[in-house]
Amino acid sequence: MRRSLILMGLTGLLPIVVLGSAYGAVTLREQRAALDRQATLAARSTARLVGREIVATVDAVKMISRSPTLDGGIDRARFTLLGLRLLEDHPNWAALSVADSDGNRLLDLPRPIGGKLGKVVDPVSLARAVRTRQPQVGHVIHGAGLTAFAVRAPVLNHGAAPYVVSAVVPVTAMQHLLFAEEIPAGWRLRIFDKRGAVIAQSGSTGREAMQCVVTAVPESGWQVEVAVPRGSFAALNRQAQLVLIGGSIVALALFAALALALTVELRRFRQRQAATLQAQRLEALGRLTGGVAHDLNNLLTPILGGLDLLRARIGEDAKALRYIDSATGSAERARTLVARLLAYAKRQSLTPEAIDVGALLADLYELLQRSVGPTIACTLRSAPDLPAVRADRNQLELAVLNLVINARDAIQTDGRVSGTIIVETRLPRRDEARGLARGDYLALAVHDDGCGMDAATLRRAMEPFFTTKAGDRGTGLGLSMVHGFAEQSAGRLVLESAPGQGTSATLILPATDAPAPALDTLRDRPTRTAEILLVDDDPAVREAAAEVLRAHGHLVAEAESLSQGMAALNHAPGTALVITDYMMPGGTGGEFITRARDAGLPQPFLLLTGYTDAAEDLPGDVPQLRKPFRERELLDAVDALLG
Ligand SMILES: Nc1ncnc2c1ncn2[C@@H]1O[C@H](COP(=O)(O)OP(=O)(O)O)[C@@H](O)[C@H]1O
Ligand SMILES: [Mg+2]
Repeated sequence: MRRSLILMGLTGLLPIVVLGSAYGAVTLREQRAALDRQATLAARSTARLVGREIVATVDAVKMISRSPTLDGGIDRARFTLLGLRLLEDHPNWAALSVADSDGNRLLDLPRPIGGKLGKVVDPVSLARAVRTRQPQVGHVIHGAGLTAFAVRAPVLNHGAAPYVVSAVVPVTAMQHLLFAEEIPAGWRLRIFDKRGAVIAQSGSTGREAMQCVVTAVPESGWQVEVAVPRGSFAALNRQAQLVLIGGSIVALALFAALALALTVELRRFRQRQAATLQAQRLEALGRLTGGVAHDLNNLLTPILGGLDLLRARIGEDAKALRYIDSATGSAERARTLVARLLAYAKRQSLTPEAIDVGALLADLYELLQRSVGPTIACTLRSAPDLPAVRADRNQLELAVLNLVINARDAIQTDGRVSGTIIVETRLPRRDEARGLARGDYLALAVHDDGCGMDAATLRRAMEPFFTTKAGDRGTGLGLSMVHGFAEQSAGRLVLESAPGQGTSATLILPATDAPAPALDTLRDRPTRTAEILLVDDDPAVREAAAEVLRAHGHLVAEAESLSQGMAALNHAPGTALVITDYMMPGGTGGEFITRARDAGLPQPFLLLTGYTDAAEDLPGDVPQLRKPFRERELLDAVDALLG
């Protein structure tokens, strides 16, 4: 499970990492390219600016070289006037100079460069200007306290170049061009002349490693260089790595969360599955138990009836009476056992009524405390304003008694004597009522601080005949009965326990709006003889019941099916009472009653039943007698109906 989850995670993570890496690499390349592009653009735009400045200077010098003041000799006065004006227009020129074609300076403006006239400092560019008859930009030259370059234009006269006009431009004049280009912090921008001397520089002056982009300035043969610190690229790399690592961590966290959710869901699913299996097992056991118990029930009815009749006939024979008593005792015990099995199988007949559980527990309290003994404290605890529940009062009392006795037994294991039992009533937790029909419920919980149950015991605790108690201390029928009773009452029994942690056994029962009625009182009843029709397909049950009734003076007619019963009823209008089985050939007791009533027959009915599903198609006013019944119970029921 864990391994498959990890594998799943890895297979999920792998593509993320691969994709993330690919994406990171692409993004990184793009960002590097963008950085390169930005540097190239900066270099080009600066180169254009420098070029334009050079062209403007060349144009200005060329214009001066065309001046008539230089035609056929130098008109010194007028050229000086013109030159000074031009110097005013170009404040960043250091000087304007006219030299002959051999490089001898003839006139310097505003005053002789270096204090006196002499040879030009950069004769190469001058010679080239003379030779090519084209303007030239000279090298950068240090001299006369100045770093500058010359822009020269030949004065053309009939195809010859007798003079050369030069503007001397200090390199500082180029500096401002660099500021026009905004470059990121840490970058460096430089202009070089043809020989690699720096003309101007801006930006970083640090010594860190740089990556350079170089662009030529065609107008002057210079170069513009933009340098980007290598650190910027490294930072990009770092960013990409961070994104990748961060992404992987997020993906991992997401996966972990997902795996956790999946594990929890799986565990829940398994728990649900186990619960369903358990319920199915108990259900199957219930059906089996119910079938056996029902058959036993039918056998017990004539046994008990026969014993009752025998006792009446035997008279004073004490020995025989003892045998009969012992037989009756065993049969009674069998009847109780069967009743418990029927309870487990959800087939006992219940008489649900509205019950104030608080009052019921208060009534029961003395019995509970007496059952657990003085060394165990049994405490009632109740939440306020609880609704009444709808359940069978006797069975509910029995259930509580069973749970409390189990709690006592759990406390008393290993020879312990003292302990605490809390009987609590409250509203159920959400998980306790999950899966039950919609509606309100009440929880009646019995907590103990006894030995608790291990998982295996907990799983089987509700099975009939499952007990961990030695000898005849345990029957294994307590919890099975309580479970059956709870389920049959449309609720459930919830067990929570762990070894050494005590146990909580919680009955969840449906709440009802109906007010809880006061308790019944005993009635006096007259006895009399009447014509009774007895319908039951089981001859043993029928004969036993008939014998009991006849022994007490009643006139009993017998029938073994619904149709026989109807016929008998039609032919004997004097019938005062009909006693009928529920399950019969030809139709149920319920159908019998309906047909009789539809035919306008007025007789009251008493239903004999071992099944509770008998109640389904029964008119609500028909009393029932659960098989097996005792002589007295039958007579009581008959008298109640005749009275
Ligand atoms: N409160 C409890 N604490 C510990 N174990 C319990 C408790 N209630 C029931 N059990 C376990 O469940 C088994 C079945 O209980 P039950 O059906 O009442 O039968 P019995 O009490 O006759 O053994 C018990 O034998 C015991 O192992
Ligand atoms: Mg028990």
